Amino acid sequence: MKERLKSLRGTRDLLPKEAKLWTILEDKARAVFNHFAYSEIRTPVIEESSLFVRSLGQGTDIVEKQMFTFLDRGERSITLRPEATASVVRAYLEDNLENEMGFAKLFYMGPMFRAERPQAGRMRQFHQIGVEAIGSYSPYLDAEVIALLASLLDSFNIRNYEIKINSLGCAKDKEALANGLRRALGGRIKDLCDDCKVRYEKNILRVLDCKNDACNNVIKNIFKGTGEYLCTDCLTHFATVKKSLDGLKINYKEEPYLVRGLDYYTKTTFEVVHKKLGAQDAIGAGGRYDNLVSDLGGQPKGACGFAIGMERSVMALQDIPELDGGLNIYIATMGEEAYKLGFSLAMALREQGISAEVDFEGKSLKAQMRTADRLGARYTAIIGDDEIKNHTITLRNMSTKEQSAVPERSFASEMERIFIK
Ligand code: HAM
Repeated sequence: MKERLKSLRGTRDLLPKEAKLWTILEDKARAVFNHFAYSEIRTPVIEESSLFVRSLGQGTDIVEKQMFTFLDRGERSITLRPEATASVVRAYLEDNLENEMGFAKLFYMGPMFRAERPQAGRMRQFHQIGVEAIGSYSPYLDAEVIALLASLLDSFNIRNYEIKINSLGCAKDKEALANGLRRALGGRIKDLCDDCKVRYEKNILRVLDCKNDACNNVIKNIFKGTGEYLCTDCLTHFATVKKSLDGLKINYKEEPYLVRGLDYYTKTTFEVVHKKLGAQDAIGAGGRYDNLVSDLGGQPKGACGFAIGMERSVMALQDIPELDGGLNIYIATMGEEAYKLGFSLAMALREQGISAEVDFEGKSLKAQMRTADRLGARYTAIIGDDEIKNHTITLRNMSTKEQSAVPERSFASEMERIFIK
């Protein structure tokens, strides 16, 4: 036998059972997005690399270490999207949604790619469901986006998640925050981990979410949180977001050290974590990004969004919903004549809107009955020599095990009575 190939490290196949679960979750997400008046957008998985460099920021981990980037045949630098916010804003501008919709509420679902070291809950190809609401500076939008995230997780039956929120302030506040941190940390650089020494130079805010205890101790000593650097407008904005969340009875925890790994965030940022997930505990995250539309060449527009990871959502599910096998009827046959009849009956049933399957491997009746079980068939139609002779079909209810002989000519109407009426 020839050598078999394997999927790439950090990628995996979604087999039918799990794919079915994902479809159920995607359907639930669509229903929730519909209630909040979001429309779907599908953007390409490849983009010009500069889109992500400009949007996410030069000094970020994603841009520096995690992008799958290659030169195409025309020597253009192309990147497999590591996230979708940048693409959605690019599309909003390029496809004129700015004029067509003005304020646009968009959702997406699909694969993202980051060259990270794979571990539980961390893949190189993973999948996000996310939303981007573009065209408003209102703090009520931040609150609604967070409420939408909670509704989405509730609809998935994920319980005991924790929403952490913070505000980074406007661009000016972020600069003051970076300068303040640089001053405060200046004398303590030697106490930081090697990564943070680099972050101090390149992207100092990232020092705040270092997981290293030594770094945390230094930071907790010299820094009381991003709140100290917020201007009056940003303080008022954040206060309205929190008040609005209180009004909506959404539980959240203020996390003054929460910064996010992407440079485009301004003002409100948030993260949803779940204990079941272990080290990679964020199911989803998001925030406001008021400068991204203008950074990508549009008129200044406020915007806010989030994305959840599908793989991590599935890990956090309270109960996996009962996955109905879905097959209405399996047609088990014995002999050539019976097979021909069964094959055409299956096709006719499908046209009636009834799911049906027949054997394609020449299996014994016993093996066909096992397949019917595996496919979760509600009924099995059995056709053998006797049935051919008597022009009947034996119908077996797979849960009660009751069997009856149905005349061939009334089979279609009997099927309709069981499955459609
Ligand atoms: P993010 O925090 O980079 O944000 O990713 C959001 C979610 O995607 C994470 O919380 C996690 O569930 C999932 N995720 C990220 N990386 C991986 C990975 N390597 N393997 C498995 N799951 C992963 C964003 O991507 C922003 N675009 C969110 C956003 C939308 N902000 C505003 N709008």
